[in-house]
Amino acid sequence: MNKSIVIGANGYLGRHLAFFLKEAGFDNRNYDLQKLPLLGVDCYSPIDIAEKQSFEKLDPAVNYIFFFAGLSGTSDGFSKYEDFNRVNELGLLNMLTWMKEKQCRARIVFPSTRLIYKGKKGQPLKEDDAKETRTIYAVNKLTAENILWAYQNAFGIDYTIFRICVPYGNCFDDLFSYGTIGFFLDKARKQEPVTLFGDGSLRRTFTHVEDICRIIISGVKNDKTKNDVFNIGGETLSLMEVAQIVAQKFNTEVKFSAWPELAARIESGDTIFDDGKLRKLGLVHYNENLSGWISRI
Ligand SMILES: NC(=O)c1ccc[n+]([C@@H]2O[C@H](COP(=O)([O-])OP(=O)(O)OC[C@H]3O[C@@H](n4cnc5c(N)ncnc54)[C@H](O)[C@@H]3O)[C@@H](O)[C@H]2O)c1
Repeated sequence: MNKSIVIGANGYLGRHLAFFLKEAGFDNRNYDLQKLPLLGVDCYSPIDIAEKQSFEKLDPAVNYIFFFAGLSGTSDGFSKYEDFNRVNELGLLNMLTWMKEKQCRARIVFPSTRLIYKGKKGQPLKEDDAKETRTIYAVNKLTAENILWAYQNAFGIDYTIFRICVPYGNCFDDLFSYGTIGFFLDKARKQEPVTLFGDGSLRRTFTHVEDICRIIISGVKNDKTKNDVFNIGGETLSLMEVAQIVAQKFNTEVKFSAWPELAARIESGDTIFDDGKLRKLGLVHYNENLSGWISRI
């Protein structure tokens, strides 16, 4: 049986992953910062990854550690840089040190982000394309990828990195979706206009959270994903198209506003994911699309 740990199991991605791991028959334990788990998250204990001794309660005899705890945000990282560094970088180093000391042979599964790429107008991004870190969060994520490589090289600790562009959907709660789409839905539900900075022409790859989890789970079971980095693809849409889908569903309108200066400076441009590397391994199956999901909520 596959034994696994999810760290960050009360989070948006971690909670879904914990659910789909259980469905896939993994013997999984869950951890997060809070004293108690969210509804449906079982086999749970609290952990603070920023405290090295916290890891002592983990069982090193597992096959996979899904490291999904972290602090996200764009402009936030500039003001909360100590927290971002402590959780996103020191937290990972604490775990790697514990793994090294315990001779833990688990493979780390790490979610990285579109925000480490230098956006390319209208062009799909491949894993080796140019990087550009416009936020502290992006710096943390690219550093974490480099840390994983360094520990693999020095100590043989295996990893797989999945880069996620824009996730959406929620298998537990129709009222909440993450990030961009969550923001649009909140506005539209209150019958307020869905607002876009600029002209809405920026393009992103959107992926339903269930597809993300299923791709990650089938991906890590394949030895060819070991010590490598993969883009998870999906459906590419402009922010204008997404805003229109959401606005139509709730009978509201789309409005445009000027970019605030900082938001414009840290915006990476189009981020469209090329998932050819995962495709070559036969590891992509996208069952959902945004219009279908929105029509059902
Ligand atoms: N959601 C996205 O758009 C997206 C895209 C790409 C990558 N990621 C990455 O995926 C991971 C999970 O993202 P998410 O969307 O589920 O975020 P989330 O904020 O919903 O979940 C993060 C979880 O980490 C936990 N956490 C924070 N500090 C901790 C600490 N000190 N010790 C233990 N747990 C701690 C939080 O309690 C939370 O439950 C993050 O690393 C994020 O950078 C997310």
